[in-house]
Amino acid sequence: MPSMSKRVSGFATTIFTEINELALQHGAVNLGQGRPDFDGPPEVIEAAERALRDGKHNQYPPGIGIAPLREAIAGHVSRFYGLEVDAGRGVIVTPGATVAVFTALMGLIDRGDEVIVIEPYFDSYVPNLVMLGATPVYVPLHPPEWTLDPDELRAAFTPHTRAILLNTPHNPTGRVFTQAELELIAGLCIEHDVTVISDEVYEHLTFDGALHTPIASLPGMFDHTVTVGSLGKTFSVTGWKTGWVYGPPALIEGVARAHQYITFSTHHPSQAAATVALNLPGSYFEEFQAMYTAKRDLLLGGLAGAGLKTRTPEGTYFLLADFSDVFDGDDLEFARHLTTDIGVACIPPTFFYSTEHAHMASTQARFAFCKSDTTLQEAARRLAALHR
Ligand SMILES: Cc1ncc(COP(=O)(O)O)c(C=O)c1O
Repeated sequence: MPSMSKRVSGFATTIFTEINELALQHGAVNLGQGRPDFDGPPEVIEAAERALRDGKHNQYPPGIGIAPLREAIAGHVSRFYGLEVDAGRGVIVTPGATVAVFTALMGLIDRGDEVIVIEPYFDSYVPNLVMLGATPVYVPLHPPEWTLDPDELRAAFTPHTRAILLNTPHNPTGRVFTQAELELIAGLCIEHDVTVISDEVYEHLTFDGALHTPIASLPGMFDHTVTVGSLGKTFSVTGWKTGWVYGPPALIEGVARAHQYITFSTHHPSQAAATVALNLPGSYFEEFQAMYTAKRDLLLGGLAGAGLKTRTPEGTYFLLADFSDVFDGDDLEFARHLTTDIGVACIPPTFFYSTEHAHMASTQARFAFCKSDTTLQEAARRLAALHR
C-alpha cells in the first residue's frame, strides 16, 4: 500500500483546524486564528483589480519578484529603518512569510545543523526543521513577562548551531524584543557566526510608543540576517499570501537557489498591489496602529471583565491571558470549554512549545484582536459569563 512519508507521519492536524471547526459548529465568536474580519485599504484592493485587468500581470512574473516591488521593499526598509538593501540581489518576493521562512531554511541550513527556536514559536517553524532534518534547540520566554533568560540563550549556542529563528514583534505573547535582548542575540550570533532568520511580519503593529527594531540594523548584523516580511498583516490581506525576504546578497543567493525550485515565482497581480501598498504615506501606518491600539484595549477590557489576567501586549494582534482564576484544567480543555460553552474561540498556546517547556503556558489562552469592534464587543459580552 502506498503511504505517507516518515517525514510527515508525526505531524498532527493543526490546532487551528480543530478550533475553527469547533467554532463553526457552536457559532462561537472566533478570536482564534489571526485572520482579520475586515478588508484591506481600498487603494490596495483597487490596484489588484487594475492589475487583473490590464493584461500585464496574468502570466509568470520574474522568479525573484517584479522590479517595482523589490524596489518598494528596499525603499520601505530604508524609509522606516534606514537600512540599505540591494533591490537587485538582496530581495526575493515569496508566496507569504510562512513560505519565506521555509525557503530561507532550505537555502541556508544543512541536515544535522542545530537551529535555535524561541518558545512559544510560530507553528510552522519546528515542522519546517523536521522536514529539513535539522535539530531544533529550544529556548523559552519566561512568564509572566515572557522574557529570555540570557544564560539559557547562551547555553543553547554550540559548535553545531547554524541559525536562530527570531520573531519580533512576537506571536503569541505580543512582546516586542527590547534593544538589550536584540543586542544579546546579536552578540552571540556574531561570536558564533550564526545566521538570524528574523520573522518581522508584525513590524508595523506596535503600541504605546514601543518601537520595532530589525535585528539586521544592529552593528555588524546585516550580514548575519535574513529578514522576513508579509503584506498580509500590515495591509489586512492575509489571503493574498504575499511576502518577502531581504538581506545581504551572499545569504539571499542561498534563499534564491531554494526558491527557484520551491515555487519559482509569486502571484503576479498581488505584486502590483503590494507595490502600491508599501508606498502608502506614513499616515496609513499611523492610523493602522491607532486602530489596533483601540482594538487591543477593547479585548483587554473584555478579558478583565471575565476574570482573566493579562499582560498588556506592546505589539502584534495577539495576546495571552491567564485563566487560572476562573477555570481548573489545562489550556486545551479551557479552549474547548470557551469555544463550546461560552461561544468565544481561542487558541491553546502549549501547541507552540516543545514537550519539555509546554507547562509554562498550560494556564494561558491566545486571543486575536484583528476583528471588527462589533465582533470584539460581542466577545466581551459572552466572556462575562465565564466570571459568573
Ligand atoms: C510570526 C508569524 N510568521 C508568519 C506568519 C504567516 O505569514 P503569511 O500569511 O504571510 O505566510 C504569521 C501569521 O500568523 C505569523 O504570526
